[in-house]
Amino acid sequence: MSKRYAGITGTGHYVPEYVLTNQELETIVDTNDEWIRTRTGIRERRILKDKDKATSFMATRAAEEVLERTGTDPKEIDVIIVATVTPDYMFPATACLVQKNIGATRAYAFDMLAACSGFLFALTTGSNMIESGRAQKVLVIGADKMSSIVDYTDRNTCILFGDGAGAVLLEAFEEETGVIDYVHYTDGDDQCLLYQPAGGSKRPASHETVDLHLHSLRQDGRPVFKKATEGMADVSAEIMKRNNLTGEDVDWLVPHQANLRIISATANRMGLDPSKVMINIDKYGNTTAATIPLCLCEWSDRLSKGDKLVLTAFGGGLTWGATYVKWSV
Ligand code: ACO
Repeated sequence: MSKRYAGITGTGHYVPEYVLTNQELETIVDTNDEWIRTRTGIRERRILKDKDKATSFMATRAAEEVLERTGTDPKEIDVIIVATVTPDYMFPATACLVQKNIGATRAYAFDMLAACSGFLFALTTGSNMIESGRAQKVLVIGADKMSSIVDYTDRNTCILFGDGAGAVLLEAFEEETGVIDYVHYTDGDDQCLLYQPAGGSKRPASHETVDLHLHSLRQDGRPVFKKATEGMADVSAEIMKRNNLTGEDVDWLVPHQANLRIISATANRMGLDPSKVMINIDKYGNTTAATIPLCLCEWSDRLSKGDKLVLTAFGGGLTWGATYVKWSV
């Protein structure tokens, strides 16, 4: 059998309407617009205010958009993977709720947890399913309602995150296109540099865990910043070297949007002109698993068949990686 490739044939996205600006955050915690902009690049982020709506709502909207844009019948979908750290429930998986909502009656569905690297790892999983010949069409979604695990009394973290979802459709190709190569890493975070202390089996929910705000994300920003800057730059350089790519060859860098300074360091290391870097952190902040598909969706009109993209992320786990994609449509 000739080699099969998994190409991205469409994108979809959803961001909530409510805009939480730096100015509004100034009224909530001891911070200021200038600090947030110069340290992170963030001006505002979107928040899903409706208490009845959760990650599956945003993931469903993103999935519906990609199905509509590609003219795909949901019954054609074989697999749905949702990357998220903020599932509606511990179980059932958010992907199962999306499967029901969109009527993908033939698909099996599951969630993947790799924090900010979640979309990249899910893209690899989905593309391997297609390359193996066992699946024809896979929906890969990155979605996070970060506002549900952010402590709005902690200025170190509450300024960073926003809510959103992005989706791509992967389809089988005979020609060399789509996901060409990937490099992924993990370095188990036994020091708890970036984690959600309670709610899992180690520290189930109790009055005490709620009183101590232990269900919110915690981050030791400085060491994570250092590791993220090194990790994203090194892995991007590594995937370029493996594929004989220079900064001239790469058409687009699609970086996880955690901090503008980390993105700039990665682009510099790759020798890329800043005009080739997708950046929307100013509008959305860090939407965890959603940042990369949100960029792909926003830039989709400017992408051409054959464009060479390097996707790269770093996140909790610790997890990081880069993926080389040739645009398929
Ligand atoms: N407003 C004003 N001052 C602040 C704020 C704020 N919102 N937050 C922190 N400060 C203060 C600190 O208290 C500190 O003051 P001190 O020196 O008196 O102690 C000072 O500003 C500097 O703090 P740093 O933590 O050194 O600031 P830094 O420049 O490192 O920026 C940041 C912090 C933006 C969090 C940065 O460390 C970062 O981006 N880290 C990496 C994030 C990342 O990539 N995470 C991985 C992905 S996320 C995921 O997987 C879910």
